[in-house]
Amino acid sequence: MYYELIMPKQKKIEKKKFVKKPKSEKPKAHAESGAAERGKKSYALLRGMHDILPKEEKYWKAAYHTAENLAEHFQFGRIESPLLEEASMFVRSIGKGTDVVDKEMYIFEDRDGNKVALRPEETASVVRAYIMHGMWNMVQPVKMWYWGSMFRYDRPQAGRFRQFNQVGFEILGDADPVQDAELILIAHNFYKDLGLPVEIHINSIGVPEERQKYKTALVEYYRSKRSYLCDDCKQRLNKNPLRLLDCKQERCLPIKEEAPQIIAWLEEESKNHFMKVLEYLDELSVPYVLKSTLVRGLDYYTRTVFEVYPVMPEGDESALGAQSALGGGGRYDLLVEEMGGKSAPAVGFSLGVERSVSALKQYLDAQQIKFPTQQVDVFLAQLGDQARRRALKTINELRTSGVKVAYNFSKNSLKSQLETANNLQVPYALILGQKEVQDGTIIIRDMESGVQEIVDQKKVEHLLKKKLSRFDVNAK
Ligand code: HAM
Repeated sequence: MYYELIMPKQKKIEKKKFVKKPKSEKPKAHAESGAAERGKKSYALLRGMHDILPKEEKYWKAAYHTAENLAEHFQFGRIESPLLEEASMFVRSIGKGTDVVDKEMYIFEDRDGNKVALRPEETASVVRAYIMHGMWNMVQPVKMWYWGSMFRYDRPQAGRFRQFNQVGFEILGDADPVQDAELILIAHNFYKDLGLPVEIHINSIGVPEERQKYKTALVEYYRSKRSYLCDDCKQRLNKNPLRLLDCKQERCLPIKEEAPQIIAWLEEESKNHFMKVLEYLDELSVPYVLKSTLVRGLDYYTRTVFEVYPVMPEGDESALGAQSALGGGGRYDLLVEEMGGKSAPAVGFSLGVERSVSALKQYLDAQQIKFPTQQVDVFLAQLGDQARRRALKTINELRTSGVKVAYNFSKNSLKSQLETANNLQVPYALILGQKEVQDGTIIIRDMESGVQEIVDQKKVEHLLKKKLSRFDVNAK
């Protein structure tokens, strides 16, 4: 053991829970694998971790391509930063006193004794890269996007994992409210293109001086109601008063409703900035909801903050759980300077991919909409050894020419192969038997009519393409 996780408290709780489990209560994977019966140890996932299985692929692919298309259209360059960074970088940017830094960071010492952390988010890394690579010398603003895994030692529940994926967009080097609006438009378009209706919750939390005055007023107000508050809020009152506005406990809600609103503490400049962002959004027809209680959980924000929520059909909202924000972001005009760079205003957001995919699936289910499956052009069925050898070659030739071929070499009967072709909803199947191999021919079967024709193997590519061009989506 070369390093030790510096999370003694959480670790202990985890261990205790695990030891307490009755012997019969094996992790699911273990119980289902049948390994115990074979006298072997099998492995389950670590708590809060999850696999993304092939059946999920179509949603993940669509999400990635949607983000990539938006990035291209709005001219963002892809950045890939390391999963491991200096731990102090995140502490400095996200801030002591936040849940992410105080409770959720995976921090450990590497072999040289450096304190490193698995990134809990990527904004800090983007800022580090902007400074380190002298990007302020480039034409401003600098626009970057990313897609990758983040790690938070959070209490797992619906929509909350310890390793999860985010897609994020950041604009550095421009204070204009048009940049805030552009980013909100991108977040909105991401879901629109995927087919999930969302609404944007938006607020302005001003600059630190304004926020400080507001905090004083907020604390004064909440102190007068202290005896009615839940235990968490009593603590927040001393430690992190802005988080009082996050409380979802029934007993605190009426108090929150009457609480002073930050907008009243904003000076002219912050107010104008906010008004302009809203005007742009109106112009762009991006739906938003003003949320005076929205403050976000990371310390680096100034002025605009926003979060994205799915709009579910009535009665279907609950399944997403309390953690239903699909994404969030805002301005962080002071962060570049705080992290050692020349002052550069910035704004950005990130979206949780797991939560987005789950909300999308839930929405499609509720509306009984089928998400398009991966498009395959043709299924190649083969019968016998010789045909299989020839099939492999044909598959490769067709792939090179841009035809998407599905096949299943572990099925030998024609019937079961054609069943698979049917399930894949391909318009055509190709059939190769021993006779066809010897004659240098192949059968093209129209899956809808069942009509088959025997064609020269050399002409199959040309003929197939011609047939497929009838289908708009497959037009080559
Ligand atoms: P965040 O609100 O901490 O912001 O995270 C953004 C999104 O990541 C959340 O809305 C959620 O969808 C997803 N997420 C966060 N924690 C988890 C978790 N434990 N399990 C699953 N999904 C999760 C940020 O990270 C900022 N960097 C956003 C930003 C970019 N601000 C400016 N630029």
